[in-house]
Amino acid sequence: MRTPILAGNWKMNRTVGEATELVTGLLDVSKRASGVELVVGPPSTALSAVADALRGSSIGVAAQNMHWEASGAFTGEVSAEMLVDVGCKYVIIAHSERRQYFGETNETANKKLHAAFGGGLLPIYCVGETLDEREGDVMEDVVGTQVRDGLAGLTAEQAAQTVVAYEPVWAIGTGRTASRDQAQDAHAFIRGVLADLCGEGVAASVRIQYGGSANPGNIAELMSAPDIDGGLIGGASLKAESFAEMADIVQGVSAAA
Ligand code: PGA
Repeated sequence: MRTPILAGNWKMNRTVGEATELVTGLLDVSKRASGVELVVGPPSTALSAVADALRGSSIGVAAQNMHWEASGAFTGEVSAEMLVDVGCKYVIIAHSERRQYFGETNETANKKLHAAFGGGLLPIYCVGETLDEREGDVMEDVVGTQVRDGLAGLTAEQAAQTVVAYEPVWAIGTGRTASRDQAQDAHAFIRGVLADLCGEGVAASVRIQYGGSANPGNIAELMSAPDIDGGLIGGASLKAESFAEMADIVQGVSAAA
């Protein structure tokens, strides 16, 4: 059985003070949420303070990006080792905003996945098609290539520990969520690609999150799909109450399954 994972991607939001307040508001839900793994992804300036505020709780901390090199002349970048040093467990890799605005490719994502594992972090690897790609009927080509190229060269054990986030770009921040069936079809397709790549056993253990305008009102329906193992949540993770509400819902759905 896969434990669902609900992760907040705060993007470029929240100062250190605001971030600390937000996660302090999640401590209660983390005590009652045993059937769901909770992760928060603050901006890099708040990682250390958030990790300190969450020490001793079951909530993990994710960075939103990293560089693949261990150190050196890479102005503005941070390494896996530095993220582990401030208390990160996860790192979000190749979010569509990084692909769209900052030149992230499947190739750089692959280097980052290897570097994450090498440095002791677990990757949350984002994939997903644009609206043009969906309407042009090339969703499977695009997402299949993202999965294959991104995970290339990982060991079976590393692939099994990778969290994949399926985030259709047209659903991110738009209020337009993929339907349960659209999301389930994409997740089943991704699991099939993983099975080709690393075998059925690995594919069955990889957690595949849905992301894109997920919120307390639609998460239960999404989670009822057999291949949806949690969510990567943007806007609705920026308030402790709505993220906590989603954690309770995900836990309830997974307990009932
Ligand atoms: P959203 O963002 O929930 O605000 O659509 C999701 C994401 O980009 O990870």
